[in-house]
Amino acid sequence: VNERVPQKAGAAACCAEFYEREVVHQLLSDSFHPGGIDLSRRAFEQLRLPSDAHVLDVACGIGSTSRDLADRYQVSLVGVDFSRQNVEVARSRTAGAAVEYEVADVQCLPFADESFDAVVCECAVSTFADKERAAAEMSRVLRPGGQLVISDMAVESALPKDLLEALGPWACVTDALAVDGYRELFAGHGLGHCETVDESETLEALALEVKRRLAMLALGQLSGALADLDVSLAELRSLIARARAEVEKGALAYFRMRLSKGPVVHAAAPRRRETSSGCDPGPGCC
Ligand SMILES: C[S@@+](CC[C@H](N)C(=O)[O-])C[C@H]1O[C@@H](n2cnc3c(N)ncnc32)[C@H](O)[C@@H]1O
Repeated sequence: VNERVPQKAGAAACCAEFYEREVVHQLLSDSFHPGGIDLSRRAFEQLRLPSDAHVLDVACGIGSTSRDLADRYQVSLVGVDFSRQNVEVARSRTAGAAVEYEVADVQCLPFADESFDAVVCECAVSTFADKERAAAEMSRVLRPGGQLVISDMAVESALPKDLLEALGPWACVTDALAVDGYRELFAGHGLGHCETVDESETLEALALEVKRRLAMLALGQLSGALADLDVSLAELRSLIARARAEVEKGALAYFRMRLSKGPVVHAAAPRRRETSSGCDPGPGCC
């Protein structure tokens, strides 16, 4: 298993290649992040954007979140992903929604400065090889007062080396930071932390769902080819069990985080400040 883990050089290409596989689509279904579209909506609703807002979905995968947000909240959405194949799937699934997809690397976003009211990035910062450049780019394309919402894996304490390597492509943990590490990363690029919510419960639900789908694959009830996994069914089941134990210990977590670029510009009437325990005072914090 370890030999098949993507190397750091070319990590974006490896991550993109992994999430292009039919069998991975079959196991993870439409959303390639824990919590699925429900978590995306929870996170997005915290932004309280007007319906004419311009939103960028960075590392959009096959576009499930972009499509849903554009349909549901009537915002204008652009999704970008490093994988041409994923972008083609995203385009083919979108009909009529105000959403466009482009192939792009987060390290060099093809948009002018201050183009977006909000940037969404789900389960992807952890996979970015150059996180500083990615954070700089996401900040650059946000307008002053614009908001970034991410959800991602966090590694809070050291995982066994073999588990870390085996989980790498599956769970976006090879280069994942601790929650504090993400806050510091974005603070260094003018994005003040507003709120963090622990979403680790979604990992348990995802683990159970993947186990259920593995059983269906083994019975031939799903179309993906198990041979494409590069790992045996038994190895995968053991991986899932070990990962669940690390989640229980608090070493592995999933979270969502909202950040803001500079002082917040309120589009509507002033709102009461949210009672969030994690809100650091300081520039950009709403
Ligand atoms: C775990 S998937 C998440 C996809 C999507 N956000 C979702 O939640 O369904 C990670 C995605 O990041 C994309 N990706 C990885 N590195 C990237 C980069 N440097 N620039 C843009 N996209 C990248 C991959 O192609 C893959 O689609």
